[in-house]
Amino acid sequence: MTNQKQSAPDAQAAIEEELIQTVVDSFATCRDDRLKELMQSLTKHLHAFIRDVRLTEDEWNGAIEFLTEAGHITDDKRQEFILLSDVFGASMQTINVNNEVHDNATEATVFGPFFVDDAPQIEIGGDISGGAQGQACWVEGTVKDTEGNPLPGARIEVWEADDEGFYDVQHSDGRVYGRAHLFSDENGKYNFWGLTPTPYPIPHDGPVGRLLESVGRSPMRASHLHFMVSAERQRTLVTHIFVTGDELLTHDSVFGVKQSLIKDFVQQPAGTPTPDGRNLGDASWARTEFDIVLPPAAV
Ligand code: BEZ
Ligand code: FE
Repeated sequence: MTNQKQSAPDAQAAIEEELIQTVVDSFATCRDDRLKELMQSLTKHLHAFIRDVRLTEDEWNGAIEFLTEAGHITDDKRQEFILLSDVFGASMQTINVNNEVHDNATEATVFGPFFVDDAPQIEIGGDISGGAQGQACWVEGTVKDTEGNPLPGARIEVWEADDEGFYDVQHSDGRVYGRAHLFSDENGKYNFWGLTPTPYPIPHDGPVGRLLESVGRSPMRASHLHFMVSAERQRTLVTHIFVTGDELLTHDSVFGVKQSLIKDFVQQPAGTPTPDGRNLGDASWARTEFDIVLPPAAV
């Protein structure tokens, strides 16, 4: 065979591919096999992206500036990198990968930044709203395992925004509202008063907000109520329920909506008797049901 000179495109591809191989090989001595796998795969995907879009140097600089700004706005209260992961669906995909479908187990969704560890405890039938504004909503259901056995004493953490779209922790005065924990009863049942969820935007006054704006996407999240449910020997579930009919269901900014988590929040006209006899005066209220199924922990 004659020793032919490479064409310019072939020579270009060879240079690019050689660099990828060199970088991949640079991780070969890593003694942690998992870290090696992560770094080598990330290298291949990152270089594939750069080559695919033929990234310009201006674009590379823009990306560095963006990440620098995300770093500057991040502190112990604001986590811009998680928001970035959220709006790419990367948070949701990580949840999908780590919560494999298991029989009839309730589906998981994003955790979000507004959970706090030490929310007040309420009794079954108590009120999580802490005086926050919004329509009262009766939430009830059961916690069971995948065989249908009730799970008594399951710890149920719930948290939500007020009807202006703010969580308590978004105020700087330490107020606590819209969150609590309770435990399921001996039959796995629970119920509480909360607020009918309303839509709100993810924090969008930083680089992630500007990114959404420049691509014509909204920062709004579909209305939801967060749950984290744990019970002995069961896999902990982090999820939310969404509201049937909410027009944001199809374009939630963090891709958190799953069909099975959309629930009817049935409106009750003022004067409709409440399940526990609570007097809501001349206010309408709503009610919803959410039955929770936890898979075994080892799965
Ligand atoms: C939330 O639902 O609380 C949330 C989720 C992702 C980003 C921001 C907020
Ligand atoms: Fe939320």
